[in-house]
Amino acid sequence: MTVPNYKSKVVTAEEAVKVIKSNDTVHLHANSAYPDVLVKAMCDRYKELNNVKVMHLTTFHKAPYVEPKMAGHFVHEALFTAGNVRKAINEGRADCYPVFLSEIGWLMDLGRMPIDVCMLHLSPPDEHGYCSFGVSNEVSKTAAENAKIVIAQINPKMPRVLGDNFIHVSKLKYIVEVDAPLLEVPMVDANASEEEKKVYQTIAEYISSLICDGATLQMGIGAIPDAVLPFLKEKKDLGIHTEMFSDGLIDLIDLGVVNGEKKSFMPNKVVSSFVIGTNVVHDYIHNNPLIEFRSSKFVNDPVNISRNDNMISINSAIQVDLSGQVCSDSMGTRIFSGFGGQVDFVRGAMRSKGGRSILAFPSTTKNDTISKIVPMLTPGSGVVTSRADVQTIITEYGIADLYGKTLRERTKLLISVAHPNFREELEKQAREFKWLW
Ligand code: COA
Repeated sequence: MTVPNYKSKVVTAEEAVKVIKSNDTVHLHANSAYPDVLVKAMCDRYKELNNVKVMHLTTFHKAPYVEPKMAGHFVHEALFTAGNVRKAINEGRADCYPVFLSEIGWLMDLGRMPIDVCMLHLSPPDEHGYCSFGVSNEVSKTAAENAKIVIAQINPKMPRVLGDNFIHVSKLKYIVEVDAPLLEVPMVDANASEEEKKVYQTIAEYISSLICDGATLQMGIGAIPDAVLPFLKEKKDLGIHTEMFSDGLIDLIDLGVVNGEKKSFMPNKVVSSFVIGTNVVHDYIHNNPLIEFRSSKFVNDPVNISRNDNMISINSAIQVDLSGQVCSDSMGTRIFSGFGGQVDFVRGAMRSKGGRSILAFPSTTKNDTISKIVPMLTPGSGVVTSRADVQTIITEYGIADLYGKTLRERTKLLISVAHPNFREELEKQAREFKWLW
């Protein structure tokens, strides 16, 4: 069956991007749904365009609009900072938003993040004319709903992922047909040394000890959340409500460990808003009735998260001070990543009956030369999870449950899970602060 109006909208990428004007804000589809062909055509026009804002969450392709020669033509505004735009941000050639992932969609709906052009990467339309947002719904569906103009590259290699994850062809101004494999992103710990893997394993075992049968899980971004999954094979009836997942989840579903049967909210569904992984997970989610993609404003809403009983959130951190303030997005003033959904899930898990939020990380980095538990955050560091929100901290040295604890109790607990080489100095500093006596 042919979709009415489809053919009349098909143009070249060069034609499609002519809708972009100087001073426009352009939103790009994220993760492996990055609309690479449209972005190339937009950047090829750079000499004709001035002050075009380019906004998006995590992407893994090269980002030509942050190259020094694009200054004045394009300015990137990161909704989450990934490796491809980090240098530009830290050299003052691009900007970023400190923002909860749950709130980006609301900001768009409220008109506080106006979007002129939304560029998408979609699956071909079904017989009713609906294209799937594929591997990545996040804030891109909301951006498309709010944008003045939507243009899309349509790719038969983009999986058709179910849920509230579709847009009708009638909403698209122009369509560019492409047929190309999606970018694959390997698991984070693929390059880890044997030593690092041992540390991840110890941390994963501590995390696993806090997960009961029937729990619902969120896994954030980074090496630790990825490392936990293989240690959950003995669990039963787990559920998933998570902003993202990767290849590692598939084994647990195949083994019947993850089945969603005990979920108190949206049972029998893996609720998520994007994947980051290889074609193994891209193929797995295609037309899979278990997978329910929704926008980040739904999935990351702390109220929705808390409707899952026994909700366990698992995220990581860059630095934690002795009072429990957690920095996850910067190293001092140097921006490294973003808020993402960390606080959304910390708060949602805390409000869930039987729930718990976990922040887990190796006690040190750079070959044991830097402690991640510090007396004070490095000046300029952003507090992502506040010390009033923080609950359970895990390193390879154990579990520190900070929830409802005094400053003195927290200090002791955090020193007990710091690397032994740093404990004496941490204790000395804590005594100078009068946090220990
Ligand atoms: N001081 C100096 N460097 C540090 C550091 C510190 N305290 N902590 C980490 N680093 C460096 C590491 O040495 C590593 O450097 P390298 O790439 O040169 O090896 C790099 O930063 C990455 O650190 P690592 O610990 O391997 O990070 P990760 O991949 O496990 O991710 C976060 C950890 C915190 C960066 C990641 O979870 C994140 O971006 N979080 C954002 C907030 C969040 O949790 N959102 C929810 C999901 S989106």
